[in-house]
Amino acid sequence: MKLKKVMAVSLAAAMALSMTACGGGSSQPAETPAPTEAAAKEETKAEEAADAATEAAESVAEAVEGKDPAEIKVGISIYQFADNFMTLYRTELENYLVNELGLKKENISIMDGKNDQGEQMNQIRNFITQGCDVLIVNLVQASSEPTVTEECAAANIPVVYINREPETEREQAWVDEGIKATYVGADARQSGTFQGEEIAELENKGDADGDGVVRYIMVQGDPENVDAQYRTEKSIEALTAAGVEVEELVKMRGDWDQTKGQEITANALSQHGAKIDVVFCNNDAMALGALQAIEAAGRKVNEDIYLVGVDALVEAVENVMNNKMTGTVFNDYFGQAHTAADVALDFVNGKDVENVYMVDYVKVTTENAGEILELIK
Ligand code: GAL
Repeated sequence: MKLKKVMAVSLAAAMALSMTACGGGSSQPAETPAPTEAAAKEETKAEEAADAATEAAESVAEAVEGKDPAEIKVGISIYQFADNFMTLYRTELENYLVNELGLKKENISIMDGKNDQGEQMNQIRNFITQGCDVLIVNLVQASSEPTVTEECAAANIPVVYINREPETEREQAWVDEGIKATYVGADARQSGTFQGEEIAELENKGDADGDGVVRYIMVQGDPENVDAQYRTEKSIEALTAAGVEVEELVKMRGDWDQTKGQEITANALSQHGAKIDVVFCNNDAMALGALQAIEAAGRKVNEDIYLVGVDALVEAVENVMNNKMTGTVFNDYFGQAHTAADVALDFVNGKDVENVYMVDYVKVTTENAGEILELIK
């Protein structure tokens, strides 16, 4: 799927155009002599043609200009401010809306959904009552999308979903029913595959103790989230596709949280000890927790155990550079935030918007960790 980028419209040029369109009428000066009947007819025709031309020019100008960005009101709800990755994302989203697209900071309202769908629903209803032009929503639960979409559509407010992907059938339903909704994210299958490949590409394919079987623990995010589901599934699929025999020792939900990642890994290490070859974490926050547990147990990453995450948090990328993590996967919040903001404005300006936009993930290993760090720091 192609990504659509919006060019920032020069406000000054837009205003100049619209003033010409509104001020340049075709009224006759008062002293013009009375025309003959034939001439009058010609003149009426000419006037009509001029009016039509002015109208066409106005609508073209409008399509090009769109709404003055300084007037656009955006309501944003993030599923939980306490989430490390979504904090980077929302900071970049606001930065881009203000500094690149020209929105006013006071016209952007960003709310913390506090991981509570009821709370988020109230925020969305407030945005609707306040007359926001467009909403950007990082759902607490993907399953609440139909309600959110329905209420926004009833108020004729477009909605851009980010990060937590609604069901594929629903994404198709927006197209079929002509609903102004879209999803901007990244294909979680790709991130899972990349994690599995990072292990499969090691010389011993992740078999730290060399006994012929790669035994792993899987620290999952919130399992309602497709990111958690696909990363769990596809990482192992990539490993087995590379001919590796695997055995799962533990699979537990850590809800994207560092402390939970640490606890799950510590328990798994005390239960299974040296048998564990690989710790897969659905994100970097949990991998940072896992690393604490690994170090506390006296194990050494890339020597007697392997560890991978997703997101490319600065600390995680530094760990990859220092042999404290085997790899991570860059979850491009720049690309996602910019696309989400661009398509939100496209909606406001009546432009065509596709139903799904996917931004690519990037593998991060010792080979390119330095470059990725440059990009995110
Ligand atoms: C994932 C990300 C996680 C967490 C989650 C929230 O894409 O990797 O760290 O932020 O989104 O839905």
